[in-house]
Amino acid sequence: MSTTPKTHDPADPGRRPMTLPRIAEKKRQGEPIVMITAYDFPTAQVAEEAGVDIVLVGDSGAEVVLGYSSTVAVSLEEMLMLAAAARRGLRTPLLVGDLPFGSYEVSDEQAVRSAQRFVKEAGVDAVKLEGGGPTQAARVAAIAAAGIPVMGHVGLTPQSATALGGRRAQGRTAQRALAVAHEARALEAAGCFAIVFEAIPAAVAAELTLMLEIPVIGIGAGPDTDGQVLVLHDMLGIYPGQAPRFAKQYVELRSQMVGAVAEYAADVRAGRFPSSEHTFSVDPKELEKLVSALRSPLFEQSTQDA
Ligand code: KIV
Repeated sequence: MSTTPKTHDPADPGRRPMTLPRIAEKKRQGEPIVMITAYDFPTAQVAEEAGVDIVLVGDSGAEVVLGYSSTVAVSLEEMLMLAAAARRGLRTPLLVGDLPFGSYEVSDEQAVRSAQRFVKEAGVDAVKLEGGGPTQAARVAAIAAAGIPVMGHVGLTPQSATALGGRRAQGRTAQRALAVAHEARALEAAGCFAIVFEAIPAAVAAELTLMLEIPVIGIGAGPDTDGQVLVLHDMLGIYPGQAPRFAKQYVELRSQMVGAVAEYAADVRAGRFPSSEHTFSVDPKELEKLVSALRSPLFEQSTQDA
């Protein structure tokens, strides 16, 4: 499906590219599916070498990479640039591009056009969209009918967080959980190959995961979904903003990055950088010739004439 060359050589050249049938098989075999976000060439290379199954160029990049205060601000063009960079760092994981707010709501035609741009211009294998109402189910059906695999996303859907009353857990009453179940079923029937469950009580997510044939990838949805996804910058501790409660931070890279840049600044100011190992040398005889040429009146003359 991808049109962009996949140039990166991963640590394990024998690893096979991930496919939709292999993702479905993982659910049948009870083998956890690992998904992570990435937004550029180096973070995609990290995901490749770490051996994840799916890489999502999420619209969370609006906040953690582009500095917007919410995901709704990011444009399709910006998402395409991030996804194309991630593509160049990947060979084996399935690459999913997140359709940003405003790129699929207007009509099925708009949704198909946006999904096609993700495939043609960024080389993604699939797209994701948020929400499970009748409109979103129709968009999923239209994109899938155009031959592009679609991942759904229910529960907390940040693009519509205002309408949901903020970024809070969803499906905490039987009635709300049933609504999520109907949405998930509708997305499955419309042709999604997998669904993200975000911020849903673990026990509810476990029941709905059993109910669905397609894999469920959870974030803040407990341990019983078919797979997990985390936002890379939350788990690496790069983003200074408040990470959601359900994000596990594995390392605190930001303070190490700030420390490294501060050390560089101190080295420059103290004359410790660059040292001889970071510097090119020249033959002393050549240098002598240069110095005498620079000091000669002929050099002054030639620069004035030029
Ligand atoms: O944008 C994103 O990163 C996402 C994940 C949280 C699933 O949608």
